[in-house]
Amino acid sequence: MTLAAQLLDWYYKNARDLPWRKDKDAYKIWVSEIMLQQTRVEVVKDYYKRWMDRFPTLEILAQASEQEVLNYWQGLGYYSRARHLLSGVREVCLEYGGKVPDNPATIQRLPGVGEYTAGAIASIAYNRAAPAVDGNVLRIFSRLFCLDGDIAKSATKREIDRLIRQHIPSQCPGDFNQALMDLGAMICIPRRPRCQLCPLTNLCEAYAREVQDTLPVRATK
Ligand code: ADE
Repeated sequence: MTLAAQLLDWYYKNARDLPWRKDKDAYKIWVSEIMLQQTRVEVVKDYYKRWMDRFPTLEILAQASEQEVLNYWQGLGYYSRARHLLSGVREVCLEYGGKVPDNPATIQRLPGVGEYTAGAIASIAYNRAAPAVDGNVLRIFSRLFCLDGDIAKSATKREIDRLIRQHIPSQCPGDFNQALMDLGAMICIPRRPRCQLCPLTNLCEAYAREVQDTLPVRATK
């Protein structure tokens, strides 16, 4: 089996049950990814549900006042995320006829949306084979391929991006990206990774060499 097939098999049995996984609406994925940028999954769950009760569609959010939107963000912190989200949603209404673009490069031009978030939205909502590389994914791939370059360096990130593009399945890139998120959160954790539960040990170079605890390498500032 391929890396993607092994990972997806595991994911379909072990995926976390998260409210934003019930629907592939690009607006909803967008909101969840912005909330998740600096806030833990357990905290985001309730905020996300309350948000969708009040702003179930992009059009409804676009018409809300900034003050009300900020009230719904109250407690999540980093309020510029909410302001950017609101202006981005208004931009989608005015410039894209209310439909979130499906091209990762176009999505990335929206306020508050970086490369990771654009990849997550494009892959989850539109099945575009775009990587969504965060710290979890850098850790998983540096272990799988025993890469000891500094993950803060752009050369290392480029190498990992290239490897992901080789392995991301075109039929279900969103599931692949979310499977990596879950693997990074539950199994391939920063310290003392739970390799005995990992679906990828047979492919993992770091596991074979027993160096998983030493990776990834991050030069201290
Ligand atoms: N962290 C960022 N995006 C996520 C997602 N879609 N599911 C779980 N954790 C995440």
